Amino acid sequence: MKPALRIIEVGPRDGLQNERTPLPTGDKLRFINHLVSAGLREIEATSFVSPKWVPQLADADELAALLPHGPQYSALVPNERGLARLLATSIDRIALFTAASDDFTKRNINMTIAESLEAFKPVVEQFRAERPNGFIRGYVSTVVQCPYAGMIPTQRVSEVTEALFALGVNEVSLGETIGVAVPEEIEALIDELTNWPKEKIVWHFHDTRGTAIANAAVAMEAGYMAFDASAGGLGGCPYAKGAGGNMATEDLVYFAERNGISTGVNLMELAKASLPVLAQLGKPPTAKSQLAALAEEH
Ligand code: HMG
Ligand code: MG
Repeated sequence: MKPALRIIEVGPRDGLQNERTPLPTGDKLRFINHLVSAGLREIEATSFVSPKWVPQLADADELAALLPHGPQYSALVPNERGLARLLATSIDRIALFTAASDDFTKRNINMTIAESLEAFKPVVEQFRAERPNGFIRGYVSTVVQCPYAGMIPTQRVSEVTEALFALGVNEVSLGETIGVAVPEEIEALIDELTNWPKEKIVWHFHDTRGTAIANAAVAMEAGYMAFDASAGGLGGCPYAKGAGGNMATEDLVYFAERNGISTGVNLMELAKASLPVLAQLGKPPTAKSQLAALAEEH
């Protein structure tokens, strides 16, 4: 039997952070409950970032207190202030985030890459002291191309990945932030990333140009079994103009299951999970495997 796929559902965080229409906390909670019913076991629920920078997630503290028991939740933490907020909740997975491009980190977190790594040190230290069983993911954004600096050398990605592991993160999620990459570019990155066990690397594809599932396919072929994805393909980054939604979790689930790789996710339930959110945002569902699953029921 093929090993199971690990899916980290980032819809409630990456999927919503860029949306201007404020979504009430209760609706976010309903979305998360639906994701849990669909079988998702790892969910990035929100971000403890500055509400001035990401107003949509200003209710992180309130939402965290209401999360249903069962899944592993993570949340973005950019600094010590964010960590203090997270430590007041029961979420025990933090996600630190930097990039392979200084131009991007300056716009996203108002720091250079080096400054961000420096800022993460006390966050990691304090988190480890307060939550000895906690888990830390580190994001590297713009792993193929930066919307400001252009193409990124693969070596740069491996340097930042190395720096995050040296800080003590448990895993690194590689963000193809603007959804431009094609499989050949992912293969080139894979060739560069030989220093770390595959279990410690997660792929985070955006699907702006419809290449996400093709990129996930080459990563799976190479033995990587952990992917970030967002229900209904919700998403985008406020500091990466033109960045489309994440790879749709429905597309990932369909692709994996059809290839004999189990996900533990009920595709029909999942296809329905983002519908109320999309309706509130005034958007029709567009993710292909979501539409196909919904059509089958009628
Ligand atoms: P700053 O303006 O340089 O820092 O922001 P500051 O310390 O001057 O803070 C500004 C204000 O925010 C202050 O309030 C702080 O108190 C407050 P004021 O004094 O003006 O009233 N503040 C906070 N409030 C609550 N929680 C906090 C916090 N920190 C400061 N944690 C900062 C620096 C890092 C805070 C800001 O740039 C920030 O929050 N950035 C987050 C941006 C973000 O969330 N981007 C999207 C996520 S990254 C992404 O999507 C990519 C990813 O999906 C992977 C991929 O696709 O590649 C992960
Ligand atoms: Mg993202």
